[in-house]
Amino acid sequence: MIVYASRTGNVRNIVSKLKVESIEISEGLLLSEPYLLITYTDGLGDIPVKVTRFLEENKELCKGVVVSGNSNFGHAVFGGAGEKIAATYHVPLVRKLDLRGYQADYEAIQTFYETRVMG
Ligand SMILES: Cc1cc2nc3c(=O)[nH]c(=O)nc-3n(C[C@H](O)[C@H](O)[C@H](O)COP(=O)(O)O)c2cc1C
Repeated sequence: MIVYASRTGNVRNIVSKLKVESIEISEGLLLSEPYLLITYTDGLGDIPVKVTRFLEENKELCKGVVVSGNSNFGHAVFGGAGEKIAATYHVPLVRKLDLRGYQADYEAIQTFYETRVMG
């Protein structure tokens, strides 16, 4: 399962490139199977509030995180949500994508999913 948060559509577009069942984060969502999290970055390198709320209830089943950011924000905060999630919840940061990313990113995510989330 892929669980994702998208505000302006970039992460939704990334998810659409993957051959994996997916669900968007909504208030109170509770997962019962392992999942890969894909999120955007908010503030100045921050985790979106709804993603933190979701993780607090579902952290045990999170197998990794993929983050989308905008490199124009600067190296220090580019994709910062992914760094923070990886450090806080002790999961691998699988990939950091600039906006919608590229084909190579989708292939790397798909491979990680098949080997480390389902595998
Ligand atoms: C208010 C705001 C703050 C943002 N802050 C950051 C940031 O600190 N670092 C970063 O890499 N991207 C930042 N972004 C860019 C988004 O994370 C990026 O555009 C992402 O692709 C959005 O995904 P979405 O279209 O699925 O919502 C910010 C965007 C907005 C609107």
